[in-house]
Amino acid sequence: MSISGIKGMNDILPGAVEAWQHLEHEARRIFGHFGYREIRVPVAEKTELFCRSIGETTDIVEKEMYTFSDKGGTSMTLRPEGTAPVMRAFIQHKLYAQDTVNKLFYIGPMFRHERPQKGRYRQFHQIGAEVIGVDDPKIDAQLLAMLSHYFESLQVPDVALQINSLGCAECRPVYRQVLTDYLEQRLDQMCSDCQRRYTTNPLRALDCKVPGCQEATSAAPAMLDSLCTSCDEHFGQLRDYLDLLAVDFTVNPRMVRGLDYYTKTTFEMVTGSLGSQNAVAAGGRYDRLISDLGGPDLPGIGFAMGLERLALLLEGQDIAAPRPDLFIATLGKDTESAGFKLLTDLQRRGIQAEMEYSGKSLKAQLRRADKLQARYVVILGEDELQKDMVQLRDMDQSSQTEVPLSGFAENFSMSHTEG
Ligand code: HAM
Repeated sequence: MSISGIKGMNDILPGAVEAWQHLEHEARRIFGHFGYREIRVPVAEKTELFCRSIGETTDIVEKEMYTFSDKGGTSMTLRPEGTAPVMRAFIQHKLYAQDTVNKLFYIGPMFRHERPQKGRYRQFHQIGAEVIGVDDPKIDAQLLAMLSHYFESLQVPDVALQINSLGCAECRPVYRQVLTDYLEQRLDQMCSDCQRRYTTNPLRALDCKVPGCQEATSAAPAMLDSLCTSCDEHFGQLRDYLDLLAVDFTVNPRMVRGLDYYTKTTFEMVTGSLGSQNAVAAGGRYDRLISDLGGPDLPGIGFAMGLERLALLLEGQDIAAPRPDLFIATLGKDTESAGFKLLTDLQRRGIQAEMEYSGKSLKAQLRRADKLQARYVVILGEDELQKDMVQLRDMDQSSQTEVPLSGFAENFSMSHTEG
């Protein structure tokens, strides 16, 4: 019996991978313009890192982590997200000593044991960006301008930016109390998860999908009405800067995030096209996280987007698979070696060249060239070989010329490679 892959963990096959490469390439290009540098961290960390950062009472830590003991008995967890590992590395390697502002991005797989469905997987991929060291709302606005610009450059259809503020250590507890008092009267309407979390994490009730909870919280007081002066000003300035930078957004006062480390600004890039998995990117400020993890008292803000969800949104776009520049067809036993040498010569010079390796008829070779949509075909017959010539067929123009075999790879690559 053949072995299949693990449920919720997908292969990304040639044909689909081109769209992924495009997403990654655009991120590297655009994030680079905004001054972000790549960081790569391991896929597994000590379990404690995620418990302390994401929060013990979140869905992720309570039920979705891939946690196991390694052979030495250390409890390890496959990273469910990238912010905590990046902050761990930031602190461990004292990146703050090199510069007062650090802008970092990462690309890679994350793991959550969720129920798989369209847009929700157990291994999924994120591109994330984090800025450490700036609490001015200008950076919040710039990060969101970069995210919006990325989505625009990819022409992602049907996405909208929503923002909110979750307050700080001063005003959040006040709001929590206000909300707890409100929910107390409605506990019997709420689902068992929200009832259980009512004392530990009451804000989660605000985005619970269960109809009873939605009804119970429909008129709940909003965090925005409880913000302290400093958080209120921060949020006001953020909105002004977003207007200044012409970044479209709406305020969603009910947005709460599934990770506990957020303070002040939170946001989501949502779509109407992916059913309940409507967040394509999400993030926010985490001004306490670095010090909570034992690092210096530095603020941070960042986001991560889900590549599977982005790829689903871009499915209609025709992101071309690479087509060979040239296909070499040979005619006659003696020409095969000459053709094979020419092939490798071309490839070494940066030309995507193909040939049929196992002596097929000319017709079969040309059929394959056609199937691969090769831009040019070189036909090398015994007569041509004698004369040191090849036939070069331009498949787009349907024209054919005879050109010298000697120096062909050099001449062709000079006129068909960039730079
Ligand atoms: P998150 O909201 O948990 O935030 O995830 C960010 C994005 O990852 C989501 O909006 C979604 O596109 C994608 N995603 C999450 N779970 C899945 C899944 N099971 N299947 C497919 N895609 C998924 C974070 O991870 C934070 N670390 C973001 C952040 C960075 N905040 C500050 N900096």
